[in-house]
Amino acid sequence: MRVDFHCHILPGIDDGSSCVEESIELLAMQKKQGIETVAATPHFNAERRSPREFIEKRQAAYESLKQAGPLPIEDIRLGAEVRYYSGISRMSGLEELRLEGTKLLLLEMTFTPWTDYMERELCELSCSGDIILMLAHIERFFKYMRRNTLEELLSQGILMQTNTGFFAERKTCRKALRMLRDGMIHAVGTDCHNTVTRPPDYDLFEKAVTKKFGSGFFEDFAVSSASLLEDNI
Ligand SMILES: [Fe+2]
Repeated sequence: MRVDFHCHILPGIDDGSSCVEESIELLAMQKKQGIETVAATPHFNAERRSPREFIEKRQAAYESLKQAGPLPIEDIRLGAEVRYYSGISRMSGLEELRLEGTKLLLLEMTFTPWTDYMERELCELSCSGDIILMLAHIERFFKYMRRNTLEELLSQGILMQTNTGFFAERKTCRKALRMLRDGMIHAVGTDCHNTVTRPPDYDLFEKAVTKKFGSGFFEDFAVSSASLLEDNI
């Protein structure tokens, strides 16, 4: 079961899909690539709106999409790509931003050097029991972490999501495959925003993994990754 854990397919809510027609086109592209389940994860930034406002807006975007149905992919789970800030663990309503039906919270870290405080806060959140942290496109943050940070976070049970593009690009593909082989990647997302400049590219991920490790390995990853959705609250 192929799951896109991170994408911006809901219309008119962030810098992703601009309208219902584009959302349907994105879903059709995802379906063509074999994706059966989509986690719709619009950007959430606490500076812009409260969780409640975000959820209302997300629901409206989802309703407008559903009204245009039947959709190429019907299994859409509502979530968020939550922007980290120092102190986020004290934000009320944070749990409301977890991926529908699960404890998974997709968190986007900051593009500045990570501090001790930030790492401690991630571990605290992860230990709270209410949230399973999944760090969004972790490959974008290697340069902001210290040498052992990734291993430490993994040892705390924090999950890592990478973009499918990490596997599609020549200069990063080897590292991506190595991390996947070593169990350091738990889920992938296309992070698609539109059909032209940031389309879904799950097919390139599948091709790279299958070529290197075989289709059995790929299917095993897809199944274990999809099982994260079974983590019912
Ligand atoms: Fe994203």
